[in-house]
Amino acid sequence: MKLQGTMEINRQGHLEIGGCDTVELARQFGTPLYVLDETHFRQNCRSYYRAFTEKYEGMVIYAGKTLLTLAVCHIVDQEGLGLDVASGGELYTAKQARFPMDRIFFHGNNKSENELKMALDYKVGRIMVDNNYELETLNDLAGRAGTVADIILRLTPGVEAHTHAYIKTGQVDSKFGVVIENGQALAIIKRALAMQNVRLRGLHCHIGSQIFELESYSHAAEVMMEFAVATHRETGWSPEEINLGGGLGIYYAEGDEPKPVEHYADAAVQVVRDLARDGGLPLPKVLVEPGRSISGPAGTTLYAVGAVKEIPGVRKYVAVDGGMVDNPRPAMYQSRYEALLANRASEEPQEIVSIAGKCCESGDMLIWDIKLPAPHPGDILAISATGAYNYSMSMNYNRLPRPAMVLAGDGRADIIVARESYEDLIRNDMVPEHLLNNKVVKLVSAGSTG
Ligand code: LLP
Repeated sequence: MKLQGTMEINRQGHLEIGGCDTVELARQFGTPLYVLDETHFRQNCRSYYRAFTEKYEGMVIYAGKTLLTLAVCHIVDQEGLGLDVASGGELYTAKQARFPMDRIFFHGNNKSENELKMALDYKVGRIMVDNNYELETLNDLAGRAGTVADIILRLTPGVEAHTHAYIKTGQVDSKFGVVIENGQALAIIKRALAMQNVRLRGLHCHIGSQIFELESYSHAAEVMMEFAVATHRETGWSPEEINLGGGLGIYYAEGDEPKPVEHYADAAVQVVRDLARDGGLPLPKVLVEPGRSISGPAGTTLYAVGAVKEIPGVRKYVAVDGGMVDNPRPAMYQSRYEALLANRASEEPQEIVSIAGKCCESGDMLIWDIKLPAPHPGDILAISATGAYNYSMSMNYNRLPRPAMVLAGDGRADIIVARESYEDLIRNDMVPEHLLNNKVVKLVSAGSTG
């Protein structure tokens, strides 16, 4: 496993994160345990801030869908970033953390009326309008509330990013955004410009996730700017903001080669500047919405090894006390991960094993074929790069309680998400009265009535 952020192997041969011995963390807080490396998370925020905000007066908006908790909101705020929320629940979390609402960007391809009302009521910075229905609804709601909503229009630039098919969102055939090439985008802009209660501030696109090719971004920026120039000619309107979405890839396993954030910034901003100049547009502010590349590498999950089962000549399964419930990515996207034994981190790996979760599902495998020192029950397995789309996509299949999360830094570890309890699991369950008195229930079959 590649050591990232503040990871070190200490003198006892244990993995340390943020100056905390992870074996000790597992003992103190139990497993599975999400560990968030505070320094690493902040460093990632700062790399973006330097590359976009300090250098180009651009804006960096952290994508909360990757990992959002109250503590995370506080850190993102302290680092001076904006926040992309994609549901009422994410918006509520930000509000409860007193995140400055003017730095909130509210996304979603099907925001409900209640969510839109909430956004207007909270006075979020920008509502990212995805489609005609939403534009009409929002204009109407804003009118009734006696306000004007600042909006950015989400477009589909038709750019194919080289990544896993499920997480491609920039192509024309997508549920997100309005298509540029068939004229729908221009039509919705004209409609928005004619409305009383929305103010069109900019254009947005998001071409996918876990992308390594910077050319995909340059290409998307080009398509967006060419469209902006054409729109300006036709309507006289030009975007104050060009939002290029998120998507920068991170290191999960061998073969992943992330590009430095500065290269991304330089490439994208250059295209925007050149095309604005050539097209006679006022220079728009460049916005980006990174999620994975901020939170992903800063997270590690600790598991306890339980059953170790060898099928001679076939495979050795090493089962841990979590799985697809806390990290659905391998099951959903065949994502690859690296791991080490946190309590024996300086031992030489000797055998190829496969890491299984504990759910009733054959596909609940976290890692196929990884070389480790022969694992034993009670060992602590650390899987790296689990900060993004793990806790945020976690679930309670098999009624497994969600793990706790600790924030580790400077030798201190604080719980930022408490472990779910069995009581939490039944908190929303209800039993109707007639089930309580043990009465025999007479069944009426569908055909026998009337
Ligand atoms: N902005 C928008 C509009 C997005 O839809 C997304 C991600 C982002 C920003 C952040 O992208 P990032 O920088 O994190 O790549 N669950 C999948 C990824 C889904 C991506 C959803 N949208 C996974 O685990 O790989």
